[in-house]
Amino acid sequence: MNKAKVKLKVASIFWAVLFNAMCLADGNGAVDRGLFEIWGPGLESQNIVMPARYFFIRLLNYNKESVPDKFESNFQITINGGTEQNKPCRIWSNILNRKDGSLIVRYKVYDQCSRLEISVKYQQQHVAESPYLVEGLINPDSCYCPKENIDGVIDSWKCKAVPAQIRADFEPFQKIDWDVTRPKVIKQFDKPHSVSLCHYVIKDNQVYRKCYGNYVGFNMFSDSILLSLTRKAAVPDLEFFVNLGDWPLSAQHLEDKLPIFSWCGSADTNDIIMPTYELTESALENMGRVMLDMLSVQGNGEFPWNQRQSKLFWRGRDSNRHRLDLISLSRKHPELFNVSLTNFFFYRDEEDVYGPKTDHVSFFRFFDYKYQLAIDGTVAPYRTPFLLGGGSLIFKPHSKYYEYFYRDLQPNTHYVPVESNLSDLIERIQWAKANDAEAEKIARNGQEFANENLLPQHIFCYYFHLLNELSKVLESEVRVLDGMELVKQKNLSPCDCSQIKTAERDEL
Ligand SMILES: *[C@@H]1O[C@H](CO)[C@@H](O)[C@H](O)[C@H]1NC(C)=O
Ligand SMILES: *[C@@H]1O[C@H](CO)[C@@H](O)[C@H](O)[C@H]1NC(C)=O
Repeated sequence: MNKAKVKLKVASIFWAVLFNAMCLADGNGAVDRGLFEIWGPGLESQNIVMPARYFFIRLLNYNKESVPDKFESNFQITINGGTEQNKPCRIWSNILNRKDGSLIVRYKVYDQCSRLEISVKYQQQHVAESPYLVEGLINPDSCYCPKENIDGVIDSWKCKAVPAQIRADFEPFQKIDWDVTRPKVIKQFDKPHSVSLCHYVIKDNQVYRKCYGNYVGFNMFSDSILLSLTRKAAVPDLEFFVNLGDWPLSAQHLEDKLPIFSWCGSADTNDIIMPTYELTESALENMGRVMLDMLSVQGNGEFPWNQRQSKLFWRGRDSNRHRLDLISLSRKHPELFNVSLTNFFFYRDEEDVYGPKTDHVSFFRFFDYKYQLAIDGTVAPYRTPFLLGGGSLIFKPHSKYYEYFYRDLQPNTHYVPVESNLSDLIERIQWAKANDAEAEKIARNGQEFANENLLPQHIFCYYFHLLNELSKVLESEVRVLDGMELVKQKNLSPCDCSQIKTAERDEL
C-alpha cells in the first residue's frame, strides 16, 4: 500500500470511531479511549496542592476544529474521595468548555482525603486512562503541611528549570548582605508619601514583616502568597523587601544596586520581578473570590475565533497618553475599532475631546472580538496574561515596562508588536484582517504560551524558584528584626501531615 492509501485508511477508521463517539446514542458502539487526552496537575493532587486543582481533557481530532455543541454534555466527570475516617470528602468541581474541543475541569478539596478517584466518561464509557486513582494524602490548600525540602517541592510540582528572568534579575545580586544593604534600602525608600514597601523575614517557616508607607493595604497580596508557599514548603530562612507600588524602585542611577521585589520591571531599574498581584491573586483565589483567572478566561468566551468580530476591542482608564491616541485613531478608522475610556483621572480636562467615558464591560466579553491591545497604563498592563489566555490576537506596543514572563514572549509568534506611539497599529490590524489564518495561529500560540507558563501551577513554581534562588545569595544571618510582626496563617484546616500513606484501594 502506498503512503496516501495508508493515510486514507487511518483517516477513515478515525472518522468512523469519531462518528461513533459523537453520535453514539444507543450504546452499541465502543468509544475509543485513545481519542482522548487527559493531563494536568489535578491528576497529581497528592503532590501538587493548590486552592483549585485542574486538569484538561481533549478529544483528539486530526484537523483540530471545534467540536459539536453536544461535546460538553457527552462527558460524565466525577471526582470522589474518602477521608481517613471513611467519610466522603467534600469536593466541589466545575467544568469550563474552551470551545476548541477541549475542557478544563477544576475542583476544590475541602477535607484531607486519603484517596481520590477521578472518573472521566464519554457517553458512559471511561476514556483515556480513566478512572484515575490518586493515592496518598490529598490536602486541601488550607493545610499547613510544608514539605521539608524546597528543591523536592520544585521537583514534585514538575516545575521547569529556574526561569531566565529570575537568573537575569539576580545577575547584579550574586551576594546579598542585608546588614550592609538593609539600612540603604530603608534610607532610600522610607518615603511614606511616595513609596509603599514591606520588609519581610521568613524564619523557621514563619512570615514576619514591617511595612513602610502610607498605603500598605496591598501587603494582603504579598502576605497571602507567602503564607500559601510556607504551607506547602519549608521555605529557607529569608529576608527581602517587597515593593507594593506599581513602579519599579531600584533605579539604575542610584548609588547602590538595591534588590527589591516588584510586580513590574523596567529597562532602567534593577528590581527583581514577581508575578503581578493580580495574577497571583487569581491563582490563590481560583474558584474563590475572583471571577477572572487564567482558567475562567478560557471557558467564558462565547465564540470560537471564526465567530469573533474582526475589530480591536479595548476598554480602560486614561492612565497613559497613548491611550488617548488610541481613541483618536479609532475615530479615523471606526471600522477597525471598538475602544473607549472607562474613566478620566489623569487627563480629566480632556474628557470633552476623548470622552464620553463608557461603562465597564465584562472582561469575558472582550473575546467577542478578534483583536486586543496590551497597551501600558502607568506601567505594564497587568491584564496581559488574561488577554493571552482569552485566545484573541494581541497587539503589543513596545514598552520599557515588563512583567515576569515577557522575555519569553516572541514577537510575531505569540503577539503582534507595534510602535509605542501606535503609528503602525492601523497597518498591523489591516494585515491581520487580510491574513486571518496567520492571525489565528499567533492568537493560538499566545493562548498555548499562557497554558504552558501562566497557569496557577506555573505561578507557584515561579515563586518557589524565586525564594530558592534568593536563599542561595543571602550572606547575612536571618533574624526577626525589631518592629516586625508575625503574619499569621488564617483558617487552617486540621490536617495530619505525616508522610504519604498507602491508600487502601479496595475501599474505593
Ligand atoms: C462596542 O462594544 C460594546 C460592548 O461589547 C457594544 O455594546 C457596542 O454595541 C459596540 N459598538 C459598536 C459600534 O459595535
Ligand atoms: C512613532 O514612533 C516611531 C518609532 O519610534 C517614529 O519613527 C515615528 O516618527 C513616531 N511617529 C509619531 C507620529 O510620533
